[in-house]
Amino acid sequence: MHVVIVGSGIAGLTAAIRASARHDVTLVTKGALADSATAYAQGGVAVALGADDSASLHQADTHVAAAGSADARAVEVLCADGPARVRDLLALGVPFDRTTDPSSLDRYGDDLARGREAAHGRWRVVHADGDATGAAIERTLVDALHRRHVTILERTCLTDLVVRDGAVVGVDVLDLLGEPRRIDADAVVLASGGAGHLYRETTNPLVATGDGQAAAWRAGAVLADLEFVQFHPTRLAVPDGGLVSEAVRGEGAVLRDARGRRFMTTVHPDAELAPRDVVARGIAAAARDQGGEPVLLDATGLDPAFLVGRFPGLTRATRAAGFDWTREGVPVAPAAHYSMGGVATDAEGRTSIPGLLAVGEVACTGVHGANRLASNSLLEGLVFAVRAADAVDVPRPDRLRLRGDAGLHVTSVPAAADASRASRPTRTGGTDHRTDTADVRQTVQSVMTDHVGLLRDATGLAGARTALDALVLPEPTGVRDHEDRALLDLARLTALAAATRTESRGAHARTDHPDTDPAAPASYAWVNEHAPVPQEVPA
Ligand code: SIN
Repeated sequence: MHVVIVGSGIAGLTAAIRASARHDVTLVTKGALADSATAYAQGGVAVALGADDSASLHQADTHVAAAGSADARAVEVLCADGPARVRDLLALGVPFDRTTDPSSLDRYGDDLARGREAAHGRWRVVHADGDATGAAIERTLVDALHRRHVTILERTCLTDLVVRDGAVVGVDVLDLLGEPRRIDADAVVLASGGAGHLYRETTNPLVATGDGQAAAWRAGAVLADLEFVQFHPTRLAVPDGGLVSEAVRGEGAVLRDARGRRFMTTVHPDAELAPRDVVARGIAAAARDQGGEPVLLDATGLDPAFLVGRFPGLTRATRAAGFDWTREGVPVAPAAHYSMGGVATDAEGRTSIPGLLAVGEVACTGVHGANRLASNSLLEGLVFAVRAADAVDVPRPDRLRLRGDAGLHVTSVPAAADASRASRPTRTGGTDHRTDTADVRQTVQSVMTDHVGLLRDATGLAGARTALDALVLPEPTGVRDHEDRALLDLARLTALAAATRTESRGAHARTDHPDTDPAAPASYAWVNEHAPVPQEVPA
């Protein structure tokens, strides 16, 4: 069969390599092969490989970080399949860092160097080239892909999924010359990543504009958990500053306010290593209390030679921004990092539409619940890409367990909130709100950052929905237009999902509903009333 895979991060490359053993594969990617969030990943891959660890300990940490909202089956699969998938990477030649510490063999049973990150009860984050794990994995997988029979289409942008007789049968793309083109497929695997550019500040690469989620939405797939957007606590707070890995705090760096006080110790018993959503909100509150001045990440307590050797990329980045982090704190602030929600799938990556699978950040298996455990994302990409590649030609079960066994609360989005209106120019109240596309992206990012960000409330969310509804795009032609359409589609849905969840849970923090409501559904899911075909919506 012919399988089209969209995306070239860890999930897309892994799916392509695996599927190419049995199928004819075309891999489509918007930028160059290596342009993916994977290449930006610093911390590493969380995996229970050590003799002191187990899949069940890893599962327990994943559930705690997820604020109790993760799907049990998906988490079990992730943690149980993880070790074999990381051994696959070792076999392919990923240069995971090794330690010369002689006690490591006794403790872990191997010489892999391990880092620790927030909410992990064990040192289980394997890394490569210090803080350039993602780039090392991406490079190795790209090399492996080139040794397979896979058609690779770079600079090719997904614009829509082709749906016929209730199934996905191909993709519409803009090719590298910007020309529309249709590629037929027996199965399409979305591995197109997240949508960090919904927000003004993000750790994501420029390509992360939610194209896959939005195309799946327009085609009629069920999307879930869109209100759960993870903000990484520490982006370097300078113009165009990038991620500062949680692994730095794992090694002992601390957070200080302008008075030099370690404020996280008063917020959570695990202080700087509390779950990511807790640390992100702690940092935002401390910054607000000092008039918006960023807090400092203080790594001066670490041995300078160790700091520079363990984090060479971050040493370069902080130096380029004018800081010597061996001697002074560096300013940090939260930034949009990861979408826990996405296209709802089962544990084999199958979506509600036959012929369409989704893996990695574009998907929502339920494995991350309301807050992803640090360094589980590369593992997720590996584990579920292999399972999806193996499932493309397996008959679908009669009843799919989308987003696991939690029971989806699926709502058909009524016309008034239909995000797909963004794809058509319309008039609202007689006034044409057509905006030039640069303004649309800026407006979306401002509205999302100010009202659908780290802290939310009913008034802000209502205002955000009105502002997003007022935006109208022209019929998209170029890549940028298609990205803007995707961002607007997803922004509307995310604001709707955030307004619907009237409680706080994990990354979704409502100042007007600060408590978790145990009776609230684990997962809100959405299907497009205007989808081209009737969909199998789970009962
Ligand atoms: C980091 O290195 O802090 C990012 C890792 C992740 O997002 O899991």
